[in-house]
Amino acid sequence: MRCSPVLLLATLVAGSVRQKGNRCELYPESLDHGGKPVDDVPSILDAFKRCGKDGTVVFTKNTFNIGSVMNTTNLVNCDVELHGTLKYSTDIAYWRLKSYPVIYQNHTTAWLFGGTNVTFKGVDGGHIDGSGQAWYTFNRGKGNMPGRPIQITVFNSTNVWMDHLRIVQPIFWASFVWQSKNVSIVNYYSNATSTDGNSTTNTDGFDSWNSENLLIHNATVHTDDDCIAVKGNTTNMLIKNVTCINGAGTTIGSIGQYPDMPDYVSNIVFDNITCISTSGCAYIKTWQGDYLNKTTNGDGGGGGGGRVKNVTFQNYRFKNVALPIQISQCIYAGEGGHGCNTSKLAIEDVRWVNYTGTSRYNIGASIYCSALHPCPGIKFENVNITGINATLGLPYWNTKIQYEVFQCANILGQKCSGIGCNRVAPEFFSQTVRKNIQ
Ligand SMILES: *[C@@H]1O[C@H](CO)[C@@H](O)[C@H](O)[C@H]1NC(C)=O
Ligand SMILES: *[C@@H]1O[C@H](CO)[C@@H](O)[C@H](O)[C@H]1NC(C)=O
Ligand SMILES: *[C@@H]1O[C@H](CO)[C@@H](O)[C@H](O)[C@H]1NC(C)=O
Ligand SMILES: *[C@@H]1O[C@H](CO)[C@@H](O)[C@H](O)[C@H]1NC(C)=O
Ligand SMILES: *[C@@H]1O[C@H](CO)[C@@H](O)[C@H](O)[C@H]1NC(C)=O
Ligand SMILES: *[C@@H]1O[C@H](CO)[C@@H](O)[C@H](O)[C@H]1NC(C)=O
Ligand SMILES: *[C@@H]1O[C@H](CO)[C@@H](O)[C@H](O)[C@H]1NC(C)=O
Ligand SMILES: *[C@@H]1O[C@H](CO)[C@@H](O)[C@H](O)[C@H]1NC(C)=O
Ligand SMILES: *[C@@H]1O[C@H](CO)[C@@H](O)[C@H](O)[C@H]1NC(C)=O
Ligand SMILES: *[C@@H]1O[C@H](CO)[C@@H](O)[C@H](O)[C@H]1NC(C)=O
Ligand SMILES: *[C@@H]1O[C@H](CO)[C@@H](O)[C@H](O)[C@H]1NC(C)=O
Ligand SMILES: *[C@@H]1O[C@H](CO)[C@@H](O)[C@H](O)[C@H]1NC(C)=O
Repeated sequence: MRCSPVLLLATLVAGSVRQKGNRCELYPESLDHGGKPVDDVPSILDAFKRCGKDGTVVFTKNTFNIGSVMNTTNLVNCDVELHGTLKYSTDIAYWRLKSYPVIYQNHTTAWLFGGTNVTFKGVDGGHIDGSGQAWYTFNRGKGNMPGRPIQITVFNSTNVWMDHLRIVQPIFWASFVWQSKNVSIVNYYSNATSTDGNSTTNTDGFDSWNSENLLIHNATVHTDDDCIAVKGNTTNMLIKNVTCINGAGTTIGSIGQYPDMPDYVSNIVFDNITCISTSGCAYIKTWQGDYLNKTTNGDGGGGGGGRVKNVTFQNYRFKNVALPIQISQCIYAGEGGHGCNTSKLAIEDVRWVNYTGTSRYNIGASIYCSALHPCPGIKFENVNITGINATLGLPYWNTKIQYEVFQCANILGQKCSGIGCNRVAPEFFSQTVRKNIQ
C-alpha cells in the first residue's frame, strides 16, 4: 500500500466532508482530534462550496464547533439538513471584531445565509446553540452592544424554506431576514434564557427588514425581547400560530429611525398568537419626530417617515401581559415625550380582532398616534381584556381605577373604532408598564 505524506494529508483534510455526488456530509473535526473542539467552519465552507449549487449539505448528528463567521450566501437549489448541533464559541472579542455588518442599526451577524431555492431543515432535534449565556453575562442587560452578532441572517434570497430551525441561547437576535423574498420559517423555536440574573436583552426571536412575502408558521419564542418584530419595508407577511413567552410579544417596529430612509410596512397578518407573561403582545412602535443624536449603538435616531398600512392582529390569546395593545409614535423619546406629535410615520388600517386575555395591571390599551398623522382605520373587533387580579376575584391592586383603562389620542373616527376609549392617552407612554394607572 502506498502511503505518501501528501496522500495522508489529503485524507485528513477531506475527512470532515464526505462527498457522494452532489451530497456533502459533514463530520466534526473533533472526531479526528481526540474530542478537542477544533473550528469546523473551514470544512463547512468547503461543503457549501462543493454542494451549495444543485446539492445537499448534511450536518450529521454530531456537535460542530463554530469558531468563526460563516458566509454561505448565493446558494442555488440547495438543501441543508441539520441533524446535529452547531455550537458557537464564546470568544466574544473575536465575534465583535469579525461578524458581518447588516447595515440596520449598525448590527452584525455571525452567519449570512441564503440564495435562490434553498431549504434548511432541522432533523431529529438538530439545532444551533449560540452559547449566549456568556454574552448575557458580559452584556449586563444593555441594549444593542456593538458587534454582538445576530445568530443567523437570511440575506439577498429568494425562495427559502426553513423547517424546524431551532436556536437555543442565541447571541443576539436569533434570526433576521434581510433583503429577501419568499422566505418561510416553519416549526421554529428560539429560546434565550439567562441563568445569572442578567437579562438576555436583544434576543429577539425574529426580525425582518426590506423583505416581502414572508411566512412564519408554528413557532415558539422564549426571550426577554421582541418575539416577532416586523421592521421597515416588510410587505406581505403572515405570522401564524406563534407562542411568545416572556419578552415583548409581536410588533411592527421599531420603525422611523432614519430620516433619510422611510419605512413602508403593509399587508401584515398575525393569526393565532399566544402571549404568556410578556410586556406587550400586539403593538406598533415608531420613533419620535425629532432626530436624537445619541452615540451609543443603534440608540440614536428618529424623524423617519413612511407608512404602516393594513395590519391585522387576530385570534390572540394572552395571559398576564403588562400592556396588551399599544401604538406609540415616540417609543424611545424618554419622559419628555419630545416628538410624539410630530412623528412623520403614518399609521393606517390596523385591526385587533378576537383578542382575548388578561392584563397584568389595569390597562388594556394605549393608542397614541402622532398629531401630524392621526390614524384612520383603527378597529377593535371582539377585544376582551380583563385584569388578571379581577379574574381571580381580587380588586386591582393599589389604585382607585378599578376598571380596565383604554386610553386613546389622535384616532380618526374614534367613535366608530370599537375601542372603548375611557381616558385620553398621555403623550408619552412607555412600552414598559410596571404599575397600575392611578
Ligand atoms: C459573501 O460571499 C459572497 C460570495 O458567495 C460574496 O459575493 C459576498 O461579498 C460575501 N459577503 C461578505 C459580507 O463577505
Ligand atoms: C428556482 O426554482 C424555480 C421553481 O422550481 C425554477 O423555476 C428556477 O429556475 C429556480 N432558480 C434557479 C436559479 O435555479
Ligand atoms: C444577490 O443575489 C444575486 C442572485 O440572486 C447575485 O447575483 C448577487 O451577487 C447577490 N449579491 C450579493 C451581495 O451576494
Ligand atoms: C427555554 O429554556 C429554559 C432553560 O432551559 C427552559 O426552562 C424553558 O422551558 C424553555 N422554554 C421553552 C418554551 O421551551
Ligand atoms: C451579571 O453579570 C455580571 C458580570 O458581567 C455579574 O457580576 C453579575 O453577578 C450578573 N448578575 C446580575 C444580576 O447582575
Ligand atoms: C402550533 O405551533 C406549535 C409549535 O409552537 C405546534 O406544536 C402546534 O402543533 C401548532 N398547531 C397547529 C394547529 O398548527
Ligand atoms: C404546523 O403544525 C401543524 C400541527 O403540528 C402541522 O400539521 C402543520 O403541518 C405545521 N405547519 C407547517 C407549515 O409545517
Ligand atoms: C393556535 O395556537 C395554539 C397554541 O400554539 C394551538 O394549540 C392551536 O392548535 C392553534 N390553532 C390553529 C388553528 O392554528
Ligand atoms: C424602504 O423602501 C424605500 C423605497 O420603496 C426606500 O426609499 C427606503 O430607503 C427604504 N427604507 C429602508 C429603511 O431601507
Ligand atoms: C391587506 O392585507 C391582506 C393580507 O396580506 C390582503 O389579503 C388584503 O388584500 C390587503 N388589503 C388591502 C386593501 O390591500
Ligand atoms: C451626531 O453626533 C456626532 C458626535 O457628536 C457627530 O459626529 C455626528 O455627525 C452627529 N450626527 C448627526 C446625524 O447629527
Ligand atoms: C458600530 O459597530 C462597530 C462594531 O461592529 C463599532 O466598532 C462601532 O463603534 C459602532 N458604532 C456605534 C455608533 O456604536
